[in-house]
Amino acid sequence: MENKDFHIPVLVDEVISFLASVSEGLLVDCTVGMGGHSEAILERYKGIKIVAVDRDSEALAIAKERLLGFAPRCWFVKNNYREIDIFLSQLNISKVDAVLVDLGISSLQITKPERGFSIRYDGPLDMRMDFETGIPLWEILSHLSRSQIQNIISLYGEENKSDKIASLIYLERHKIKTTGDLKQIVEKAIGYQRRKIHPATRVFQAFRIFINQELDSLNVFLSKLIGHINSHGKIIIISYHSLEDRLIKNYFKEMELKGLGKVLTPKVIKPGRKEILMNPRARSAKMRVLEVV
Ligand SMILES: C[S@@+](CC[C@H](N)C(=O)[O-])C[C@H]1O[C@@H](n2cnc3c(N)ncnc32)[C@H](O)[C@@H]1O
Repeated sequence: MENKDFHIPVLVDEVISFLASVSEGLLVDCTVGMGGHSEAILERYKGIKIVAVDRDSEALAIAKERLLGFAPRCWFVKNNYREIDIFLSQLNISKVDAVLVDLGISSLQITKPERGFSIRYDGPLDMRMDFETGIPLWEILSHLSRSQIQNIISLYGEENKSDKIASLIYLERHKIKTTGDLKQIVEKAIGYQRRKIHPATRVFQAFRIFINQELDSLNVFLSKLIGHINSHGKIIIISYHSLEDRLIKNYFKEMELKGLGKVLTPKVIKPGRKEILMNPRARSAKMRVLEVV
């Protein structure tokens, strides 16, 4: 199997249909990942052009190769999407017709043990999406206080046993070096029963959101966004965490109240049963769309 086969784009038909009105325009795919959404969009709309962004250079390289056939219609940028003002100005672009953000992690990140995101495969506890900057999680962990650890697990993991888990992580923090170490500590703290979802899943999600400052990036991005979209342009955001979805929902409401946008998804869009069966990763996806007016 090739790398590109690993990631199935979520809600891709819905994304395509919302883009019909900007089918000749310029779109920023803020989280191109392995290029699944971008490929479908470029194939469907022959007039669309894409600025493809990701902070993960490994993902970006795969997307570049995958989208080679569309080369004259694609530009690739390795950056955090929160820097949208900077990379657009470097490309001499002031406004675009659509942005797509598909938050969370890609299958590439979750299936490569050496990236340190995975509960299933043992590897160094890294978890950086941009592994070329910053320091890995195992190194940061040893500098966190017990209450910081608990806050992370409770807020980003929405884990109600955060107290027990944080105490044990704090106690063992200097020994935790791998994903396997962290998984075992969680099992020891709250017990392990065979369930559909491993008990450490929420803890892994929490540390991933923390180390990559995911909510902070989303906040900064939203604060800059509206000025970069042409009128009748579309903002499409797919999220997988209730805190992210709340930020997006409130931002869209605020834009509508200010007369700057119209919410096209009064009821949030979620994948149907068939999509979830084919792609279990889609189960927590929520998509919201705003039209700029
Ligand atoms: C769910 S995957 C995207 C999958 C993609 N839509 C596809 O169909 O292949 C999310 C991607 O967003 C990237 N990402 C997450 N936060 C980012 C940020 N703040 N800036 C840029 N890229 C980010 C991750 O590195 C990952 O590759």
